[in-house]
Amino acid sequence: MDAITNLLTRNSPRELSSPIPSKDEMHEIYQAALRAPDHAWLRPSRFIEVTGKGLEKLSKVFVELAGNEFEDVTPMQMEKYESAPFRAPMIIILATKINEHPKVPKTEQMLSTAAAAENILLALHAKGYAGIWRTGKFAFNKKIVEYLDLSSDHEVIGYLYVGTPTGTSKNIPQLEVEKFVTRWDK
Ligand SMILES: Cc1cc2nc3c(=O)[nH]c(=O)nc-3n(C[C@H](O)[C@H](O)[C@H](O)COP(=O)(O)O)c2cc1C
Repeated sequence: MDAITNLLTRNSPRELSSPIPSKDEMHEIYQAALRAPDHAWLRPSRFIEVTGKGLEKLSKVFVELAGNEFEDVTPMQMEKYESAPFRAPMIIILATKINEHPKVPKTEQMLSTAAAAENILLALHAKGYAGIWRTGKFAFNKKIVEYLDLSSDHEVIGYLYVGTPTGTSKNIPQLEVEKFVTRWDK
């Protein structure tokens, strides 16, 4: 697939199943991630790759965090949290290790991880896999870093659910570019 077709057809499928990318494929995908723009080359992005028993570990983390930190969780909500990681055979947790830097604020470093995340999604798509970017309470809660065994200088920016797209494919919306673009040419 040529690069532009890859960009124009990337999408978040309804369902993700096995197989997942091989170790060698993931190596190349992380290389693509690490090619994201990165002010001052601080290399702030970190990835936790969760598969197999790791998904059970992540499920326990979600249940523990929800039990300790969320208010008024119903048994039904707890069940949803517990099963959340099993919606895909691989999850990549996206984190930013924040560096103190006089010219590069925290936000820019997190944006670099966001760019890395899109590179991952595009590289997955190029290889016939797919990902869904999710955030929610388990990304926004400040305590999540502790529960993931990350030091306090990390921020979790989201979760990429990864696998092979299955189920019916989505219609990709054809947006009217002109509605989104303003030109200053004089
Ligand atoms: C930062 C960020 C956070 C997101 N969080 C969620 C989420 O928690 N749940 C969800 O269903 N979609 C979430 N999305 C949107 C999906 O990943 C996806 O982009 C959206 O459903 C549109 O589908 P498409 O990628 O096929 O255009 C998020 C997207 C971004 C960029």
